[in-house]
Amino acid sequence: MRFKEAGDTPRRFRAGMVFLFVLTLGLMCMTWRELSTYAEPRFPLMRAGDLNKTNQRVKTQTATNVTKESEAAPVSRPGTIRSVTGTSNETKATNGCSWPKQSEQHCSFNETEVLNMRQHILKFFNPETNLTITKSNLHIGQLLKYEFRVRNKSNLFKVTKDFFKLIPNGSPLKERHFSTCAVVGNSGILRNSSCGQEIDSMDFVMRCNLPQIEGYEKDVGSKANFTTMNPSVVSHNFGQWRNKTKDDYDRLLRRLKQVGDQILYVPALTIAFGEEYVRVITQVVLQHKLPMKTAFPPAGLNNLIKKIWTNPGLKISGLRPSTGVHMYTLAATICDQIHLYGFYPFTKDKRGRALRYHYYGTMEKQIDKEAHNMQEEFRVFQQLHRRGAVVLHSETCN
Ligand code: CDP
Repeated sequence: MRFKEAGDTPRRFRAGMVFLFVLTLGLMCMTWRELSTYAEPRFPLMRAGDLNKTNQRVKTQTATNVTKESEAAPVSRPGTIRSVTGTSNETKATNGCSWPKQSEQHCSFNETEVLNMRQHILKFFNPETNLTITKSNLHIGQLLKYEFRVRNKSNLFKVTKDFFKLIPNGSPLKERHFSTCAVVGNSGILRNSSCGQEIDSMDFVMRCNLPQIEGYEKDVGSKANFTTMNPSVVSHNFGQWRNKTKDDYDRLLRRLKQVGDQILYVPALTIAFGEEYVRVITQVVLQHKLPMKTAFPPAGLNNLIKKIWTNPGLKISGLRPSTGVHMYTLAATICDQIHLYGFYPFTKDKRGRALRYHYYGTMEKQIDKEAHNMQEEFRVFQQLHRRGAVVLHSETCN
């Protein structure tokens, strides 16, 4: 048996103090990292050879599925995908662009980052099964649960005969893949941006909430391959529907006609107060035999998308992801180069000039912090921009 030596206690005490010091330092570092709110998103880096595997998985080989839109698109497009083949250095994530900057037209995409995001999102979201409910698993009279309840409202949505008619048999984006896509948000930053021509030059253009285009073509373009429409848009943009005038009805009809034979995406099952507006949309589309392809996302999509964005470093949590985030999520699975326009949830531009909430209309709506956390989302898009996964446009285009 060994007896304690005289020098043991101070030595142990010193060792204990050093241990405590190191532990405290470690904890402080971790806390600091957590508090540096927008740490870079951490995704597993892909090797260059993984490109084909990922593309096969989503059946998105560009060469075999080139779309009519891309054939028609003008050739001059901003941004190029930087090669990731070659030396190991090139496969490392590098910045696409600094932000803010003057000339976003010259930003380049980093293929590795684009693929990392696609791969990450595909773990949660499948554009073939999560884009829309389909006829095969529904019947007339069925009661579907809304994703979010509203007090004093039924949380069940009834599948009527008319609604059933508009439900597709499969995803309208099945096996589609695009080289360049524009996701157009509705921020007032688009006013006087002169981005219309650039937006229209993209292979696939996505727009949010049936926005007004007429009169704003120079700034926002006119092409729309995919248009979302929250049911509440009926009352927000086309008059108080219960007291609707003929003029309100005609404006809605005219705007829906502009969708043409492209995709109209209606989140009918999100919140339990839009049923009457869904009926209005259904009725107008059927009555006027509008040729659009309709899609109705399944309830539960918000939670699914939230999971993607609660990845450490992405940190959009708590609230409902905005329409813009939904659209980026979809675009990341089907587009190689994603350009975001009209994503700028601030009341002033970089030069301090006042901005409207939406580029169109007269609505003086303020940023709805109860529903979405657009400013947090914006910071995530800034990170993705820096890494070359998207180009976030916030300057004028010429
Ligand atoms: O349905 P939601 O309220 O999300 O969208 P919206 O107001 O119709 O705008 C469409 C999208 O544009 C938003 O989801 C945001 O991503 C973006 N937006 C923005 O970044 N800043 C604004 N001032 C307005 C919209």
